[in-house]
Amino acid sequence: MRIVMIGAGYVGLVSGACFASMGTEVIVVEKDPCRVAALQAGRIPIYEPGLERLVADSVRAGRLRFEAALDRALPGADAVFLAVGTPSRRGDGHADLSHVFAAAAELAAALPAPTVLVTKSTVPVGTGRRLAALMREIRPDLDVPVASNPEFLREGSAIEDFMRPDRIVVGTDSVQAEAVLRALYRPLNPAGVTLLCTGLETAELIKYATNAFLAMKITFINEMADLCEQVGADVHELARGMGLDRRIGPKFLHPGPGFGGSCFPKDTQALMRIAQDAHAPARLVETVVSVNEARKAAMAGRILAAFGGTVRRRRIAVLGLTFKPETDDMRDSPAIPIVHRLVELGAEVVAYDPAGMEQARRDLPAEVVYASGAASALAGADGAVLVTEWNEFRALAPDWLRATMRGRVVVDLRNVFDPAAMRAAGLDHHAIGRPAPHRALAGEAELALAAAD
Ligand code: UDX
Repeated sequence: MRIVMIGAGYVGLVSGACFASMGTEVIVVEKDPCRVAALQAGRIPIYEPGLERLVADSVRAGRLRFEAALDRALPGADAVFLAVGTPSRRGDGHADLSHVFAAAAELAAALPAPTVLVTKSTVPVGTGRRLAALMREIRPDLDVPVASNPEFLREGSAIEDFMRPDRIVVGTDSVQAEAVLRALYRPLNPAGVTLLCTGLETAELIKYATNAFLAMKITFINEMADLCEQVGADVHELARGMGLDRRIGPKFLHPGPGFGGSCFPKDTQALMRIAQDAHAPARLVETVVSVNEARKAAMAGRILAAFGGTVRRRRIAVLGLTFKPETDDMRDSPAIPIVHRLVELGAEVVAYDPAGMEQARRDLPAEVVYASGAASALAGADGAVLVTEWNEFRALAPDWLRATMRGRVVVDLRNVFDPAAMRAAGLDHHAIGRPAPHRALAGEAELALAAAD
């Protein structure tokens, strides 16, 4: 089979390379000529473990190529996938569909024969119908079946997520589109993956509802962590106790500084707007959005409280800047409001991240100093704040931390260190949602921030 993937961004590249590795002939079309040239030269413009190798193998096998001109890619295609960006529109939180409709209009004008149009981009409910109408309007001579095939890829494990999905969702109102998508995903059949066929609107909503539900799970455990601190309970034992109930499941119950990234913040906002516009307000989702924003902002208060109420002229090592490990993505990372606030409060921030420093320079204040590794960030620091749980930070031994830093404060916003071992090494360790003799409680943190203002 043969497909065209419009957009060589994160989703387009991962999906294109994975389809190619499953035996499909894939042409990825990208408007940006620099990006096409880089890809043709074997350079992958995004950070995703395993992707460079997968792309190189498929290119060598002759199943994957990159093209700047859409009309050259289309002849012979069984399906065209739209994998262009749908960022949050400034001001109202709706998804910005300008790239989707521009690509669809260009496609309609250029299509040489009836071809299935599939949206991979996350688009609001009703977009599939609007695309079908656009196709009919521009090309009344052609029958273009439309399908919605949302992706559920996590940054850092996107290839694994594509090749071994929990399910494949295909929304369509045409037998022909369903048949093409079933054939494309057939190589995954032996693994017993369920391909769920629904209407267009349902598939579009499954994507948003899934992400909003996961975001809600995280937000729930974060609130429980605050409660644990106040009543002397341990949030990890709580999460385990809840997660063993198979109706709940153990995943996405890890407390932290609030969710970030390219999907959860954008998709929860968009679902909230979709529901409001449909006069069926999603109040839980609205609350998740505001609780998560407030949480990210409150983290600086915890740090302040851990440092005894002031961080002025304190040298603070910030370990991890990206919204999660195994990515260079800083979008909506909790590190952004945390570092801004620490700098405002007079702290000297020395930051280190294994992959995100280039992007971080754009998002963090100019005063931040960047270290070349954890050791140089920590050397002589009055304290450390762990924001992202990269494996290399897990490996830092408490005794070594104590010997390397000048001070003793460690604010562990991802609970990667063992509180007892940290205490035994003489460190003043502050975790999230765990009992400890000295810790910055959620309540204290608010007071500390109020006092600083
Ligand atoms: C997410 C979805 O998982 C994926 O299916 C969708 O296609 C895109 O959005 P991603 O944003 O890459 O993927 O990362 P994910 O691993 O889901 O984490 C999202 C955020 O939630 C991160 O900031 C992470 O630190 C946070 N998180 C996740 C927690 O705080 N606790 C958890 O238990 C899980």
